[in-house]
Amino acid sequence: MFFALLFAAVAVAQSSSSSMPTSSSTSFDSGVPTNAPIPGLYNETWRPQIHYSPPKGFMNDPNGCFVDNNGTYHLYYQYNPTALVAGNQHWGHATSRDLYTWENQQIALYATEDSQIFSGSIVVDVNNTSGFFPNQNNGVVAIYTLNTKDEQVQDIAYSYDGGYTFIEYAGNPVLASTPASSQFRDPKVIRYGETWVMVVSYAQEFVIGFFTSTDLKTWTPASNFTHGGLLGLQWECPNLVQMPVQGGGPMWVLVISINPGAPQGGSITQYFPGYFNGTVFTAVDGAARITDFGKDNYAGQFFYGIPGTEDQVFIAWASNWQYCEEVPTGETEGWRSSMSIPCSTLLANVTRSGWDMISTPLPFGQLYVSQQPLAQNYSLGNSSISVSYPDVVSRAIYFQCEISGIPNNTYSQGTLNFTFSSSQTHENVSGGFFFGGDNSFWLSRQNVQGFGETNPFFTDKFSVANPINSNGTFVLEGVIDRSILEVFLDHGRNSATMTFFPQGELDMFELTTDGLNEGVSVSVAVWGFNSTWASQATCRTSLSAHFLGTAQILPPQSKHSNSEKLHGEDYNQHFDRNPFEARIAIICDLEELLQDCRLQTHLA
Ligand code: FRU
Repeated sequence: MFFALLFAAVAVAQSSSSSMPTSSSTSFDSGVPTNAPIPGLYNETWRPQIHYSPPKGFMNDPNGCFVDNNGTYHLYYQYNPTALVAGNQHWGHATSRDLYTWENQQIALYATEDSQIFSGSIVVDVNNTSGFFPNQNNGVVAIYTLNTKDEQVQDIAYSYDGGYTFIEYAGNPVLASTPASSQFRDPKVIRYGETWVMVVSYAQEFVIGFFTSTDLKTWTPASNFTHGGLLGLQWECPNLVQMPVQGGGPMWVLVISINPGAPQGGSITQYFPGYFNGTVFTAVDGAARITDFGKDNYAGQFFYGIPGTEDQVFIAWASNWQYCEEVPTGETEGWRSSMSIPCSTLLANVTRSGWDMISTPLPFGQLYVSQQPLAQNYSLGNSSISVSYPDVVSRAIYFQCEISGIPNNTYSQGTLNFTFSSSQTHENVSGGFFFGGDNSFWLSRQNVQGFGETNPFFTDKFSVANPINSNGTFVLEGVIDRSILEVFLDHGRNSATMTFFPQGELDMFELTTDGLNEGVSVSVAVWGFNSTWASQATCRTSLSAHFLGTAQILPPQSKHSNSEKLHGEDYNQHFDRNPFEARIAIICDLEELLQDCRLQTHLA
């Protein structure tokens, strides 16, 4: 059993390294593996348990999001593996079948000493339009910004192995600005009929350039979209995507991220519903609409490969350039920033505000600890429900509250408040809704000690006006995951992302309604999630890191039955201190480790 599995592990590792083309870039960073994922602990106090975060180092924008023809989602991201701030930008890479359970992959695109790989996108060149893929119909092409001291240009790299390793195109750059610009970046490419379309930002001119191409190598200017909605100080990370309209055919949406200069500070994302004819985008109107009313949802990207007639999948960076390089996870846990929860999006024409992009969390599937809620009350009335959840090890919780029978706006009254708090320190994050007046919903991270008390940009309250539906209903859903809270109002008509870093673990939930009109009914339920990282992250990434190219097969007698047992953090500390020693320890304990990590299925 022990040796069969060990050989299997080695075989998997070798096939994924030797039979694949090597990336043309090699990392100049000492200590950063070029042929294996970077290991991460994923059990630290602030580490989200159902969100993606990098194993170590600094992460910002999602990049190159696409779903391959096997149904695997690929998430690349702006990644500095050597520091806890941005600078040495690579493309990190992770894959998932459900967008909650992630497997780290080796870095996909490497910075060099004098150039960084900035944001961009990925397409699948099914018809070999690029000529890179004479023998396959699943060739992957990354289109990204190469940032150097003097200039930003658009480069491409291609992958024969479905997006795990890349070869930079010898004819790069494929697009540069004339005259040269240091503010020309973040290409997002989509397929429109028989052509490729790129949207790319002239960041400080507030222009999104539209380009077309037949081969991904030669790009022709088609049109510009300029000075719409909010300007801030820079436009970044444009996205162009087609999505259904609730109850109707698809429409187009142009998304533009703004930083710095968001109305509430730092980074924000705006979008324009509209029409696109292959070369020109026309917004339905001049209004600025934002994707999220919090401060931690930026540079979001739609996954390539989902037809425009289906709901799209959106994921964003859950932080803000005003404080992302200072948040305390850096000093104490060695990582910074997570991604948002993955959302399903479509357009709707809703109460009063008109066109709206609706975002709801993708189904949680198998994530629940149990289908049975931790607590529930389907006729709460004007009352409270509370639950303490020390037994939910992940500390990741989902709650839903549905209210119906609310009278016409003018007469509606009362409040709904919820709190997630720490039994240890009494810190809390909270939110609430006013059913009267302006129908305001608010969120607060004010009662969290530490970082928020000292950082002037870590604004502590957010709100939005959310008119009550004409059918007299209001629905609130929330997901909390150690250091991130996301709320969705009325099935995603408004949503907000808020990060926070409490000194004590939040382990209690309370929801209270008060002063609601007679006849209003309130239904609440709260569920716990299992961690998607607990059973696999450290173990799997560590194992492949060790086995790739280095796993020597030990003879049976060298399996020391009395060897020290290493678990969780210890594996990593060991690995950091002395890779060779750690490798021996891991091999000695492999049998038990494989049990722990539930790796049998993975290797089979
Ligand atoms: C947005 C951004 C992009 C750029 C990348 C660099 O957050 O500034 O415009 O490509 O980050 O990391």
